[in-house]
Amino acid sequence: MSLKQKDKQYIWHPFDQMKGAEIIPIVKGEGAFVYDEDGKKYIDGFSSWWVNVHGHSHPYIAQKIADQAKELEHVAFGGFTHPQAVKLSERLVNLLPHNIEKLFFSDNGSTANEVALKMAIQYWFNQGEKRNTFLSLEGDYHGDTFGSMSLTARGGFNEPFERFMFDVNFIEPPTEENGAEVLAKVENYLKTGTVAAFIFEPIVQGAGGMLMHSPAILSKVIGLCQQYGVLTIADEVFTGFGRTGKLFASDYFEHKPDIMCLSKGLTGGFLPLGITAVADKVYQAFYSDDAKNTFLHGHSYTGNPISCAAANASLDLFEQENTMQNVAHITEKLAAFVAQIKRNKNVRTARGFGAIAAVEIETQGESSYFNNAGKEAYNFLLSKGVILRPLGNVLVIVPPYCISDEALEQVFESVLEYFEGTKS
Ligand SMILES: Cc1ncc(COP(=O)(O)O)c(C=O)c1O
Repeated sequence: MSLKQKDKQYIWHPFDQMKGAEIIPIVKGEGAFVYDEDGKKYIDGFSSWWVNVHGHSHPYIAQKIADQAKELEHVAFGGFTHPQAVKLSERLVNLLPHNIEKLFFSDNGSTANEVALKMAIQYWFNQGEKRNTFLSLEGDYHGDTFGSMSLTARGGFNEPFERFMFDVNFIEPPTEENGAEVLAKVENYLKTGTVAAFIFEPIVQGAGGMLMHSPAILSKVIGLCQQYGVLTIADEVFTGFGRTGKLFASDYFEHKPDIMCLSKGLTGGFLPLGITAVADKVYQAFYSDDAKNTFLHGHSYTGNPISCAAANASLDLFEQENTMQNVAHITEKLAAFVAQIKRNKNVRTARGFGAIAAVEIETQGESSYFNNAGKEAYNFLLSKGVILRPLGNVLVIVPPYCISDEALEQVFESVLEYFEGTKS
């Protein structure tokens, strides 16, 4: 039996409707490329769900992981620590906005947000205040655990679970046009004294279709929340580690969030790891002689040393390989491509920010995750050796930062060919 057949027999894949799913077995990765079991080469144009930073199987990170596995593979993080976590924390605290002072570890993006949410609730609880509402942005996605799912915009993703989710007030992502209105609406919520925290995907809302909003106005919303003492949480799971052109999207803001959630690119795309990074005032609300004020949350693999070693190796590469210069170069190339493809009549709209581009296919019906138009494009691009997993009818280009000009051109040409040739 081939890998594909055995996979079909035993495995249930995430996000894919298994009826009719075409699963591709990948057996090797190198740089911006992955190879299937028949030896076919693909450009990984979506960085394997937006996690890959320096390229697949980068030998430096692979070596550091191997070294760490031989030294210390895991130790419980409750009551113990280890050199890789300490080193990573010191480095990140120096790279994150100046107000961020402490890191809490978990294992993925959803749990990084889940931790932030629980911290926000208990932050108020420990101070004797009952705050039970949240603000989030329309179109936001924060993950698939129950808390993160509740903070996510309502729709097909979470519909079956709706009556089990808590209430969240969704506000429009701020733009130059609606800025005043959004700020007024936020202030009305803040005045009620019931809001525990405002969580947001900063600048680019990934899973919602790579929607982009104004950094300047979002910063004002953060500042307003802070005036009312309400916690602000930047979900940088997707935007962190260079994706928006700065190391963190929050680096664009004048007002810095109190909590930042990191995952995906944190380990260079090698291993699962989540971090919820907090300002001292959050930490202090839990620092107490009363055991009840403890943050009673953790996971068996919290702060895993091999994952931390991968994260440290990834940070080394940011320094050694001038990674942010590559991001700047990709940003320019994507911006030029967006301007070009926007003119195609089969394109509804296109947009870019940092090393992210999104191209909406003109189709019947609204742009959404459940719009099937992207499937045909996905299959066409696969036949050309390009992987761009669409979000409904939105084609997304989120390449690893190591991608060569040649490979990026091949992605552009294949997308253009799809819009110019195949589609009428
Ligand atoms: C902004 C954002 N938050 C959270 C998540 C969830 O992360 P994970 O898939 O690691 O649970 C994602 C995943 O795409 C994301 O884009």
